Amino acid sequence: MGETIGDSVVAADPLELLNVAVAVARRAADLARTERTAGVEGVGTKSTSTDLVTAADRAVERLIVDLLRARRPGDQVLGEEFGLGEESGSAGSAGGDAEPTGPTGPTGPTGVRWVVDPIDGTVNYVYGLPHYAVSIAAEVAGVTVAGVVRNAATSEEWTAVRGGGAWREGKRLAGSAVTDLGQALVATGFGYDAARRTHQAAVLAQILPRVRDIRRFGAASLDLCFAADGRVDAFFEKGLGAWDKAAGGLIAEEAGLRVSGLRGAPAGPKLVLAAPPALHGQLHDLLVALDADGGP
Ligand code: IPD
Repeated sequence: MGETIGDSVVAADPLELLNVAVAVARRAADLARTERTAGVEGVGTKSTSTDLVTAADRAVERLIVDLLRARRPGDQVLGEEFGLGEESGSAGSAGGDAEPTGPTGPTGPTGVRWVVDPIDGTVNYVYGLPHYAVSIAAEVAGVTVAGVVRNAATSEEWTAVRGGGAWREGKRLAGSAVTDLGQALVATGFGYDAARRTHQAAVLAQILPRVRDIRRFGAASLDLCFAADGRVDAFFEKGLGAWDKAAGGLIAEEAGLRVSGLRGAPAGPKLVLAAPPALHGQLHDLLVALDADGGP
């Protein structure tokens, strides 16, 4: 899957895009891990005092953007830290429900847009918890067609091409076989805004007695890959950015999970629910009853 970076690729073939994504993600993950070993530098905050960004987030995103632009000059790149570009001032992480640069957003002349989270799990990264990932997805005409999520600390890597299944280390993934929500291990996460967290905590308090248990790992892209891999049975979270869910969402879908929002809405900033078909309806209905996509 690894490919030399430097040749020019014009065609938007999903497998070619995946090859580019994987090659770039591996370089980016190496940089993230090396920077972590050297020590965490330049820690700042974004939407709230708990929403961290480090010099490494920015350096890794710059590397990804440079590598993608060198390889596919006409494509657009949307990143968590710099939005559509440092010069645009449209940095991600606003923390709202709007998806200003969502699937219907503008693309460059090739129709390809890369959606990038340089380090998903920044809080884990800062604390030295080996659970943070580089996430790179390719959209063509607004549809995610290829994605890779690589845990930079462990080098585990998940990939998918639309229609081609989800994979980790040569193993095709099929999600969990659990059918009873009461026996399900459910991953979730929380936003950084205190009012939003209050709502999320109230929802969670009602879910916890109705499932096997809850996990909060701290990197949504990896949560989605874990759901694809059957390491958890399902995942939901309100308030994710496009960069958190683009690659992992495709990987979960290609593993056979249903990835959606609530009440017929697509997965998006209001809610991302990923679950095997047998669990999806049960968790969906519980989340609707609890107004999980409501509140601040
Ligand atoms: C965060 C992680 C976390 C999720 C948050 C995200 P970041 O991304 O994915 O698991 O709960 O909603 O913002 O800030 O580490 O890139």
